[in-house]
Amino acid sequence: MITPVDATTTEAWADLRTLKDALVPDLRAWFEADPRRAEDLSYDLADLRIDLSKNLITDDIVAALMRLAEQVGFASRRDAMFAGERINVTENRSVLHTALRLPRDAELTVDGQDVVTDVHEVLDRMYAFADKVRSGEWVGVTGQRIETVVNIGIGGSDLGPVMVYEALLPYKQDGLDCRFISNIDPSDCAETLADLDPTTTLFIVASKTFTTLETLTNARMARSWLLDKLAEAGAIDSTDNARRDAVGKHFVAVSTALDKVADFGIDPANAFGFWDWVGGRYSVDSAVGLPVAIAIGPDGFRDFLAGFHAVDQHFLNESPERNVPLLMGLLNIWYVNFLDAHTHAVLPYAQYLHRFPAYLQQLTMESNGKSVRWDGTPVTSHTGEVFWGEPGTNGQHAFYQLIHQGTRLIPADFIAVANPAHPVSDGDTDVHGLFLANFFAQTAALAFGKTAEEVRAEGTAEEIVPARVFEGNKPTTSIMAPELSPSVVGQLIALYEHITFVQGIVWGIDSFDQWGVELGKKLALEIAPAVFGDAEALAAQDPSTQAMVSWYLAKRD
Ligand code: F6P
Repeated sequence: MITPVDATTTEAWADLRTLKDALVPDLRAWFEADPRRAEDLSYDLADLRIDLSKNLITDDIVAALMRLAEQVGFASRRDAMFAGERINVTENRSVLHTALRLPRDAELTVDGQDVVTDVHEVLDRMYAFADKVRSGEWVGVTGQRIETVVNIGIGGSDLGPVMVYEALLPYKQDGLDCRFISNIDPSDCAETLADLDPTTTLFIVASKTFTTLETLTNARMARSWLLDKLAEAGAIDSTDNARRDAVGKHFVAVSTALDKVADFGIDPANAFGFWDWVGGRYSVDSAVGLPVAIAIGPDGFRDFLAGFHAVDQHFLNESPERNVPLLMGLLNIWYVNFLDAHTHAVLPYAQYLHRFPAYLQQLTMESNGKSVRWDGTPVTSHTGEVFWGEPGTNGQHAFYQLIHQGTRLIPADFIAVANPAHPVSDGDTDVHGLFLANFFAQTAALAFGKTAEEVRAEGTAEEIVPARVFEGNKPTTSIMAPELSPSVVGQLIALYEHITFVQGIVWGIDSFDQWGVELGKKLALEIAPAVFGDAEALAAQDPSTQAMVSWYLAKRD
């Protein structure tokens, strides 16, 4: 096994330390001294305009970060991923989400398998199915067309589809809605199904492994709900054939484990596969995106995939100096490892992107929350930062205070679109323009702050001046797109996928495994008998767990 380069032993790392020690952040002075700063640090990436100029970087810092990328072997690791090498070493798998968006005429053979043909075979089946649902050709057991698609999945089998569906609501077909059940808390399933008509509801059970406790439990509950409701309405009788027929018409599946799909009772003809080289959190552009394909249609989904592909091509071919995912990944390294940032905010000024921060939490934190490197040796620096966020302007009235005047450095990505889906005016006021004024104002306020002199000049009483001073030099990246199209959503996702990978490369970690979620899953199954009242199982737990379970058992109705 190749040993990862220890980034902290490179010359570039030492240079960055020296640069950090000498750093006196002063965005006001930096912009004054260099009239080209905004232009030089702005980039076009497919439809995205990205401004890095309000970050705490100088030419020397960027140059040192570039040397760091070179010294840790960034380019060869990136190329290995695109070529299908097994860079997910702890699972001995290729990492090929980029193959999911290759055009039909591209070529990629991995282990003798024509990956592009496989991908497009599934896409064609998804598109044909989506068309049937959208046109009303696919009907439920009583001959009614489908009006609601309920996706049952969790993690990557939920967060991607729900985020993209919400982002692209203006593109969905009228009269065809999607809902999402993820949590094993039975309230999620109950609330989601409460007002649905089983005769017009289609369930997609999405699970890469088809073993996930939450998803299979929810799928069984949904199946019981469907069969009970249909029987109550007199739509089916209680024979096995009628029940099987109903499940066949109201349940489809997305999985890499097609044998397990059949065991659940779903017709393999209605199952859409993908491959072990697609990580769950990298899977929304695989068959896991089926709810999105149904909602926005095959053309929209093609556009979505084309957006990813445009960013992939940039990441693969653009020179390091203009390579945006590389630059943004390295910036995050600068903040985490040199400026001691613990978190990173993502603040969409687009209400339709309200689930984007949650989506990014899995993408970034499941990928880079690691403390050993891919060869099993301990990491030599801090790794994954906490990603979090909420849409603006709501966040401005909640947590921005801490970003502006708190003691912690919080780099923030601001995301907005030029053209909203709803360009509503309020009298003479362009409401979206007003919304964007907030987007622009916040990054300026964070960067340039407000000095004591400026506060005094407003006539503020001297004792209040310190409280009203904004230090500034709070780093932000601004990302704008012309509109929130399917392609732009694909571009945004691919951008963050590659940023995450770049950080993983520098840290020498496997960004594509997720062993850290296993222990909790295993213990839940071990503790379950105690929760169900088995005294022996309860006695086997630690004292704290025993006490809490006992309290629960005493309080339970
Ligand atoms: O949380 C762990 C995890 O394995 C994620 O990586 C994955 O997206 C999620 O569970 C769901 O897994 P599956 O799609 O196999 O049900």
